[in-house]
Amino acid sequence: MSYNSAFRRSIDQRDDFWREQALNIDWSSTPDTIWRPLDNGHGEWFPDGTLNTSDVALDANIRAGRGDQAALIYDSPVTNTQQTYTYNQLRDEVALFAGALKQQGIQKGDRVIIYMPMIPQAAIAMLACARLGAIHSVVFGGFAAHELAVRIDDATPKALITASCGIEISTVIEYKPLVEKAIEQSNHKPEICVVYQRPQAKATLQASRDHDWNDLCANATPAEPVPVKATDPLYILYTSGTTGKPKGVVRDNGGHAVALKYSMNLVYDAKPGDVYWAASDVGWVVGHSYIVYGPLFAGCTTVLYEGKPIKTPDAGAFWRVIQDHKVDILFTAPTAFRAVRKEDPEAAQFSKYDTSSLKRIYLAGERLDPPTYEWLKENTNLPILDHWWQTETGWAICCNPAGIEMMATKPGSSTVPSPGYDVRVVRMNGSTVPNGEQGQIAIKLPLPPGCLMTVWGDDERFLNSYLRPIPGYYSSGDGGYVDEDGYVFIMGRTDDVINVAGHRLSTGEMEEVVASHPAIAECCVVGAHDDLKGQLPIGLVLIKDGATIDPDELEEELIEMVREKIGAIACFRRAIVVERLPKTRSGKILRRVIRQIADHESYSVPSTIDDPAILDEISEALRR
Ligand code: COA
Ligand code: AMP
Repeated sequence: MSYNSAFRRSIDQRDDFWREQALNIDWSSTPDTIWRPLDNGHGEWFPDGTLNTSDVALDANIRAGRGDQAALIYDSPVTNTQQTYTYNQLRDEVALFAGALKQQGIQKGDRVIIYMPMIPQAAIAMLACARLGAIHSVVFGGFAAHELAVRIDDATPKALITASCGIEISTVIEYKPLVEKAIEQSNHKPEICVVYQRPQAKATLQASRDHDWNDLCANATPAEPVPVKATDPLYILYTSGTTGKPKGVVRDNGGHAVALKYSMNLVYDAKPGDVYWAASDVGWVVGHSYIVYGPLFAGCTTVLYEGKPIKTPDAGAFWRVIQDHKVDILFTAPTAFRAVRKEDPEAAQFSKYDTSSLKRIYLAGERLDPPTYEWLKENTNLPILDHWWQTETGWAICCNPAGIEMMATKPGSSTVPSPGYDVRVVRMNGSTVPNGEQGQIAIKLPLPPGCLMTVWGDDERFLNSYLRPIPGYYSSGDGGYVDEDGYVFIMGRTDDVINVAGHRLSTGEMEEVVASHPAIAECCVVGAHDDLKGQLPIGLVLIKDGATIDPDELEEELIEMVREKIGAIACFRRAIVVERLPKTRSGKILRRVIRQIADHESYSVPSTIDDPAILDEISEALRR
């Protein structure tokens, strides 16, 4: 089937299309109803089907004869470890840990927070929750205690699973003190805390609440998969919105399994037995979909890599992993290759390794800048495929549909809408923008399977953020255009979300932290272009009348505050004192113009500005 006919069928005969895809997974009871609309424009996929996600990921592969095939390869240059789990072994570990959680009273519908580094136990913990029908919420290990506390209060977990430490290149970061601090700050207190002890640091356990992972498993019996409704939540994954409070994206079980399995074929053309490596982190959506669930649903071997593209030990790290594990498909963020290119511009490291197994390289998470695309293309001579998606969608909204028809690539474009996504470029009133002109990228409802069901505990926020801004559409928050050939070009966020090294962060959240400093009267944080990380946050701050503080000292304090409250990954390293902030007459800060000035882009002076002279002052301050 050609891409065009698959796409048309997914829109015009939606139920038939997804019914066929649903046949590719093992259900406990196969759904009759494919799509059930709800009053709010959204709906539910496969509402009368039941399944278990860990069964689809593990047991189904064993039933299909893949028990002795490698399911997961752990590669950790920071601990000098390589370890392979077959499907049989991974299923046994997952079932045993699920049994241990069950013994502690964890059952269907309970929330479990997972705050772990990139070790196999992170994936095992996720799959064990899924086996019990418990809802996991993985929090990226680079987030500070405060961020963890916010998520504990929102998800109200019964249990928290962590490890004694993470390893950042050569620095050992102890997790347990961060967990203690978070639990101290949160109003909700998890009843149980499970700690996986790593040899690099031993955590102190609290007798009444904490359990050693291995001790629990030693006394547990393996748990069988618990069938859940397709519409029951599998996980909550928090992502940055425009305010200080992160949004808990809720993903279902059934739509997720069907969509991810479909995407493994459509987007990645992955076959059972292929070695698939998403060089990301389980704390991000890429890690959920393509380190853990997608590759296992498809019977592939997934690589879980605890390292960086550079410095572990050098810019040849990725090529070494590809050689060692005969990786077929690589997926990472452009920033990883910008880092490699900066250290190894001539790609000397590439020729040192046998990377002949590699078929395609996929990039997402931020805009793929043409120089990085060209560098990769020239040096690897492989298809370099950009695809666009979000935490909310869980799989590619736009891609090069390699599994059904490989299309010509155009640098700067994530190619065409994936079947199921009726992508339109519109104005805020919903009217369509002609080809070639920029507008809001929106998806005509309904969304395909696998996308968010709601925002955890806040359906109003879900509606206000995504469905109400442009009636009849899902509002993506990204701007861009479609060219005359139907290729989609994503140009960046139209809200206050920024993308730092492929990590999605909220400037609003940083503003809340900066504004809490006693000397700050007002502030604004914008994302300015950075050659390596894509964007970096810059704060513009106004000091309170009468406050006496040295600007350098203030900057240091603010940097420390953001690091302490949000985490080092925010990369907040500049806070500039200004006399005034440019605002509209109604008092709204002109963030877009500030960003344009910071990026040395041309800008037009908004007619609503109260005093245009402020823009020169800002320009001058940013030059300093
Ligand atoms: N736990 C604790 N701290 C973490 C962390 C984690 N899991 N991940 C990052 N950090 C810390 C880093 O140690 C660093 O701290 P520092 O300021 O004390 O040095 C800070 O957060 C910033 O980290 P990072 O953005 O990773 O910057 P870097 O300069 O160390 O590395 C890159 C730059 C490009 C190599 C790195 O950002 C990278 O590998 N990017 C790929 C991104 C990616 O995979 N994104 C996922 C979406 S697909
Ligand atoms: P996240 O939810 O962390 O995956 O971040 C999603 C955001 O990253 C999107 O809304 C885009 O702004 C950006 N993004 C992801 N993939 C791409 C891409 N291929 N091209 C441009 N921007 C992208």
